This record gives sequence, C-alpha cells and structure tokens, in this order.
Amino acid sequence: MELETAQRSQTIYIAAREAEANPNHWYAIARVDKLKPGKILTAKFWNQPLAIFRDETGQIRILDDACPHKGVALHKGVVNGCHLVCPYHGWEFEGKSGECVAIPYLTQGQKLPKASVRSYPVQERYGLVWVFPGDPALASERAIIDIPEYGDDDWFLVRLEVSFGSHFSICNENAIDLFHGYLHRKYQVWYDTKLVKIQESPEMMQAQYDVAYQNPLASLFGLSKWGVKETTGQITVRYPYPNLTSSLGDISHVYLLRLPASNTESQSFGLFFSKVKIPKILAPFKPLIRAALRHFVLVKVVQQDIEMNENEQEIYENDRDRPFVEVNPAIFSLRRLIVRQDEQYKASINSTLQKVKVGKPQ
Ligand code: FES
Ligand SMILES: [Fe+2]
Repeated sequence: MELETAQRSQTIYIAAREAEANPNHWYAIARVDKLKPGKILTAKFWNQPLAIFRDETGQIRILDDACPHKGVALHKGVVNGCHLVCPYHGWEFEGKSGECVAIPYLTQGQKLPKASVRSYPVQERYGLVWVFPGDPALASERAIIDIPEYGDDDWFLVRLEVSFGSHFSICNENAIDLFHGYLHRKYQVWYDTKLVKIQESPEMMQAQYDVAYQNPLASLFGLSKWGVKETTGQITVRYPYPNLTSSLGDISHVYLLRLPASNTESQSFGLFFSKVKIPKILAPFKPLIRAALRHFVLVKVVQQDIEMNENEQEIYENDRDRPFVEVNPAIFSLRRLIVRQDEQYKASINSTLQKVKVGKPQ
C-alpha cells in the first residue's frame, strides 16, 4: 500500500514538472509604466517570445516577436503609428491584425504578399499588461483575476517583479507550502505552521494554515499590535490557476501573478497589499517607504525562495527519475490542479482537431 502511494505521488510529481501551461487564461505579461511611447517590450509566454507596444491611438498591441519574412525579432524594430516595423527590411505589421501592410521596396505593380504575424487579445489592468495566449474566441469568456484592493487607499501597495529559473509548478509549490517558513527563519516571517484545511475545485485549490510571527516590522505593516511580541493568525493561500493569492485575515493580501515563460523559466508580478496606516505627515515619503520595504524585506525573502526553486529545478533536470517524498497534502492538491489544467487544454486541442478532421472533405 505504501509503495503504491509512493508510486502514485512520484507519477503526479513528474506530471506536474512536465505540465505545460494552459494558455486559455489571461496572464500578466508586463508593467504598463515600462511601456513608454515608441518603446517595444519583449516577454515570453511558454517559449513564445512576444513583442508588446502601444500604438499611436494609445492601444496596447501584442504580436509574436518574429517577423514572417526571416524570423527577426520585431521588438528590435520601431513603432510607426499603428504599425510595428521590422528592423531588417522594414516590413510593416498592423498591430491589431498582425497583417503585413507595407513593404518599402515593392516595385510598382508588385502585390503585397499574404504575410502576417499572430496578434493576441490584450487588456490593461492593475498597472499591468495582460495577454490571452490561447484560443482568442475564449478571451472574452475568461476573466482577469479580481484585485479589489488595487486603487483602494486603505491598502498600502508594494510591487515586486521577479524571475525564477524554474518551472511554474516549482514556484507555485513554494508559495502554497507554508511549511517552508524554516527557510526564512532569520526574518521570523512566520513559523509554527499547521495545515488546517484544503479545498479543491477544477479551477482552484486553497489551503488554510495557522501560523505565528514576531517580526518587528509586523507592527509597522499593521500585521500585529504594537508591543505584542508574538502574534498568531490564519493564512489562506489560494491557487486560482494560474495565479496565487495569499491572505492574512483582512490585514495583508498578496497577489502573485504568474507568467510561465518556458518549462524552466517563470516570472512573477507580485502585489503586496497591507492595511498599514501611513500618518498624513509621512505621506510624501510613501515612495521611500515602499522602496525600503521592497529592498530590505521582500527582495531578501524572495531571493531565498528563488535560490531554493532554482536548485530544485537543477536537481530535477539532472535526474528526472529521482524519487522524492512529500508530506504536505496541499502540494498534492496543487500538482493535481496543474496536471488537470494541462490535460484540459490538450483535450480541447484534440477535440478541435477532431472537428477539423470530420469537417474535411475526403
Ligand atoms: S526579416 Fe523582417 S522585414 Fe525582413
Ligand atoms: Fe518563501
């Protein structure tokens, strides 16, 4: 029985590490404030490089970052009105449709060839650019994660973007598994973790933990009362695929918006909200407080996570059959969800292919 359980957990472990990201969701891909006029950003969703720019009407456009002429990266080109111009021979692509609309050296009477680059549904929300990399027909059916704290003055926001050299299952396991408070013990972020409850549905799983913490900064963040040494609380970590959220009551809410760049690279756009009251007199120093919290607290803690995650990825790549033992049921639940999403997407592609085959004349 034990052997069977171990085998099953090893199977789900490998399936999660090998799972592909389900593109039929909205993914945060870039920060809006980095998209200055004329600037073309580049980012990757699951091995596909993308070029992101704002056209002259103010609309953000996302195209595959590869020119259909010779494959050159379009983000190295320039924005011309509503077009993206390839840096090599100057072919121009319309931002919305991705169609080639001009080739500067066509001779008179020579027709424009049918050439286009894939364009993606895009939205701008929470100061972020969001892309829908999957079936565009599903983009309007799917919602971007709700972040009600955004723009609410009661919440103090610190943002942090990080890159992990690891598969998205590894960084999400890191966030769902609060038993790794040990790693951050120097900062006393949290400890004495107890898993209270797990809930699972086809699109989401969540785990509730009881924790204790006593970081001196906790009072500053509003996470504990002044003068109290140790505080206990309940943290709920949710994984509404593909993003992660974590909340400590109604005083700290964290959103980790994940971008799976490839099977060994992930990006995270972190929004850390806390209900800290900054006295009016200190209001002009908000950006400074934000920067200090980011650099002296968040970055330090997240660096520890990144190091562990990348080490885990490296070990996995060196020996994919190495067996591991897991004891946190929340991890199993998260792995099942990741595998389910992968299977769901592959099944949707297969059914589309079947329909195409059926519709094809013999
Ligand atoms: S490679 Fe892009 S225009 Fe030639
Ligand atoms: Fe951590």
